[in-house]
Amino acid sequence: MEHAFDPSDPGFLEDPYPVLDRLRESASAFYDEVRERWFVTRHEDVRACLRDRRLGRNFRHVMSPAEIGVPELDPRWPAFWATERWSLLWLEPPDHTRIRKLVAAAFTPRSVEALRRPAQALARELLEPLAEAGQMELLYDYAQPYSIAVICRMLGVPLDRHRDLLDWSHRMVKMYEFHVPLEAAENATRAAAEFRDYVRGLIAERRARPTDDMVSALVQTRVDGGRLSDDEIVSTVIVLLNAGHEASVNTLGNGMLAFARHPEQWRRVVDGDVAASAAGEEMIRYDPPLQLFERWVLSDDFALGDQPISRGHKLALLFGSANRDPRVFEDPDVFDVGRENAAQHIGFGGGIHVCIGAPLARVELEASVDALRRYWPDFRLDSEPRRTGAFVIWGLQGLELSRS
Ligand code: HEM
Repeated sequence: MEHAFDPSDPGFLEDPYPVLDRLRESASAFYDEVRERWFVTRHEDVRACLRDRRLGRNFRHVMSPAEIGVPELDPRWPAFWATERWSLLWLEPPDHTRIRKLVAAAFTPRSVEALRRPAQALARELLEPLAEAGQMELLYDYAQPYSIAVICRMLGVPLDRHRDLLDWSHRMVKMYEFHVPLEAAENATRAAAEFRDYVRGLIAERRARPTDDMVSALVQTRVDGGRLSDDEIVSTVIVLLNAGHEASVNTLGNGMLAFARHPEQWRRVVDGDVAASAAGEEMIRYDPPLQLFERWVLSDDFALGDQPISRGHKLALLFGSANRDPRVFEDPDVFDVGRENAAQHIGFGGGIHVCIGAPLARVELEASVDALRRYWPDFRLDSEPRRTGAFVIWGLQGLELSRS
């Protein structure tokens, strides 16, 4: 059909923005018959959908799969579904409200602020020797170990398990793409089981000997007399780890690629004309690490503009398209680190599922950009980077940089 696009097409994945631009400018929403869902393209509508309580990330609390003609959860992947069961990203009110309150009570502004100095120190410790070596693959050598170390420090996960966590997380997030091959689903399920067993052990340790970390806080926190069950803590820790590092890593990869292509913008950051925090917002706006999130229509009276969309339909909200909407951002295809309203991007979502980790993500990004401008004031691309081949979780396979 006229509007259809193929998010797995290599040409599209090379640079999706011209296609997203065309889609957005021809319609605020369109139905894709191949993927059987509505795509929402404009900033105002994506923003409104995120806040609309007639939409939900899940439908199972109000409708059966049979009722709307979608398959039951595949019974071959029980361990994967068990970890999803109590994930904030799986739940809708009232369970979502209850669990989010408990997680927020442990994930406080104070606990994030306490990570600022360690996050800054860690960024320098990793980047200085890499600068001396003169070369790095930004994602593998820096962004991955960095963001996993920060989130593990917050949770209280010992250092020696970092590579395992990365491995589990990479395998599990494959389940969120449009097409999941059998082997990937089996792999994700094995990863979920290993991850669950590991977190159960951690909960038992922290219950016996609480320390000053988030797993201990999740074990102890009480809100309105209620507390989290072990299954709920397992899901929460896994979603914090998975959500908490893939997006941060890809933000840095996508953003530093943008700087490599626009060295004059990097100069503004290095010269201190623009704060690292402001640059971080434009990095997320310009090339966000999550391109799309979905919602189910839960009520009979939902409409997008004058287009009614009936209960049980699915919407895909195109964040990258919304972030390039000229109705909100002037010259949206220009990477401009001094852009005043960059922080209006949709990168962290909105409404009840708005990213709970955004304050930490911002601390990490600012610390990384600050350390990069100090130790990597001049850099160049060593090779042409390649995309991962996935669209929803939007990142690079790697980014090879040299000091120039
Ligand atoms: C630049 C980095 C990040 C970006 C762009 C990002 C983006 C997002 C977005 C768009 C959502 C909402 C999804 C939806 O509405 O369907 C979300 C939710 C979430 N994020 Fe992040 N995130 C980032 C970093 C983090 C970090 C560091 C953590 C944890 C420490 C985290 C934990 C979460 C959690 C737990 C949720 C689910 C909240 C809920 O459903 O109530 N994120 N994130």
